[in-house]
Parts: sequence; structure tokens; C-alpha cells
Amino acid sequence: MKTKLLAIVGSHRKNGNCYALAKSILESTSSKSRIIQLASKKIEFCVLCEKCVHEDCVLTDDLNQILAEMKKADAIMFIFPKYLLASSKFLAFLERLDTIVHMRKHKGYKHTFTEPNYRLLPKQQPFCVFALSGTGRFKKETLRTVVEYIESLGLTLVSHDHPPFIAVNVRAGDEKGEVLKNKAALKQCTELTKKIIKSIKKN
Ligand SMILES: Cc1cc2nc3c(=O)[nH]c(=O)nc-3n(C[C@H](O)[C@H](O)[C@H](O)COP(=O)(O)O)c2cc1C
Repeated sequence: MKTKLLAIVGSHRKNGNCYALAKSILESTSSKSRIIQLASKKIEFCVLCEKCVHEDCVLTDDLNQILAEMKKADAIMFIFPKYLLASSKFLAFLERLDTIVHMRKHKGYKHTFTEPNYRLLPKQQPFCVFALSGTGRFKKETLRTVVEYIESLGLTLVSHDHPPFIAVNVRAGDEKGEVLKNKAALKQCTELTKKIIKSIKKN
């Protein structure tokens, strides 16, 4: 059976560089793949209602549908742009998922830590990170924060063989599709994609 790769694209710009990179690297694999662009999705902010302790998030947006896709995937690639730190919609998306984890571990916001081993994604699928910037560079601290957020969901980091290891740092430029000119970065992204696919087969 074909492996199922899911790419979550955290840009606010539809069909921008993060999407172009996701499409290019997924097309180079023989896996069944799906790209979710947060730019096309509605992501509200958590209101700390605590209902997610016992049921799916009750906010009426696209989060539960994306989470269902994440559960079905064999591996997940997170591709997001540097907007000073990282794009706010992508951070809001992770904040929502991590809040569900927090609520279930603590049985509410202020309650005791009763289920420390709770995982939102119990299959602990592998994930990797592609971080795109215009001409600058991500700070390692930003990448580490994003990776920690994702690891808290229960997923397992597949690291890159080159610095900064926890992600591929891609200088993408600013024009839509400009990232595809950066052949060295595309090669690194393809390498990490092969590595994540190999890690699925080992499971
Ligand atoms: C609000 C905003 C802030 C940005 N901040 C940075 C930055 O700090 N450093 C940088 O190199 N690029 C920055 N960029 C440029 C994007 O990272 C770059 O254009 C990237 O290719 C966008 O990817 P996308 O087309 O998928 O949105 C910023 C872009 C926006 C819209």
C-alpha cells in the first residue's frame, strides 16, 4: 500500500513559495500525498472553554477536519514561512492543537497533571520541518519552539543531516514560486523527504 504523506502549509498566501515547495517535493515521490494550505482554512483562536477535555474542539472552523487528516497520514511535513518569527496563522494552528493536548493532560486548564502521557496523535508518526524565508534566516530558537509545539502533539521529529538539523532552512525569495530556483535547498528538502519516507517503512 502506498504511504500517505500530508504537507501542512502554514503560509497566509495561497499558492505561494511554501505551497510551491510542497508540491515540487511531493511530486518527486511515489507516495499518496495531500497538501493542506492554512491560507484556505478558517482557524479561530482558543477561548479556553475546556470542552475539548471530553470532546472534539467545539469552535466552528476547520481545525477538527485538519486534525482528522493528520491522524490518517503516515508522515507529516510542516512547511511555513518566516514572517518576522513564523506566520501567525501557523502559530495559531499549533496553539489550538497544543491547547487540546494541555487540556487532556491536565483535565482542564488549572487542574492537576493527571494524564502526562496523553498523545493527540498516538501513532507518533514522523514529521519534518521546512522553514522558508525571503532573504533572511530563521533563528534556531524559533525553529526549536515550533518543533517543540509539534512534538507535544505526539509526533516524532525526523531531523535533517545538515545544520540546523531540526529543519531545512530555505531561502525562498519573495516572488511566488521563486523558491523553485533555489536548487540546493530543493535538493536538501528532497533528501529529508526520502528520509521521512524511509522512517515510515521502519515503523
Ligand atoms: C508579514 C511578513 C513578514 C516577513 N518577514 C520576513 C523576515 O523577517 N525575514 C525574511 O527573510 N522574510 C520575511 N518575509 C518574507 C517571506 O518569508 C517570503 O516571502 C516567503 O517566500 C513567503 O512564503 P509564502 O509565499 O509561502 O508566503 C516576510 C513576509 C511577510 C508577509
